[in-house]
Amino acid sequence: MGKKAREIAGVDLKDLIKDLDRAYCDEWLAFYAYWYMAQAVEGLGYEDMAEFLNKIAKDELEHAGEVAERIIELGGLPTNAPSKLEGNANAAYPGVMKKLADYAEIMKIVAAAEAGAIEVYDKIAKKTFGKDHDTYQLVTHILGEEITHEEMFENLKG
Ligand SMILES: [Fe+2]
Ligand SMILES: [Fe+2]
Repeated sequence: MGKKAREIAGVDLKDLIKDLDRAYCDEWLAFYAYWYMAQAVEGLGYEDMAEFLNKIAKDELEHAGEVAERIIELGGLPTNAPSKLEGNANAAYPGVMKKLADYAEIMKIVAAAEAGAIEVYDKIAKKTFGKDHDTYQLVTHILGEEITHEEMFENLKG
């Protein structure tokens, strides 16, 4: 981001970079939990759940990449070590189910993580609206996907 772009942005850049980095860490933790659960439930009869978890895991990893790119454009650096992800995130690690086929627990984990993500991106969207247009565009795009994840999950409940 150049001088003029910073000037018109009208946001506290340090604060925004911190918000984005927290979201970046959330994305990695969600990716890890979803991906892990997808591997664990793979097998006969669990195709739908594995497919669902793999699909949203892939989206979360993409979000991590998009958010990292924006942090760097803004002159920051995303969290640089796995050991720091939990400490720098908004929420604690979502965790994984204790019993392999515990659908109810998987759904609880996903619901909580998606609700958290929706809140996080909604907050950043409100902060950047009418100010930092590029970040606003990115976070509303991601927010739309988080809303879809929540919906997919609710539909899966049947
Ligand atoms: Fe995400
Ligand atoms: Fe999500």
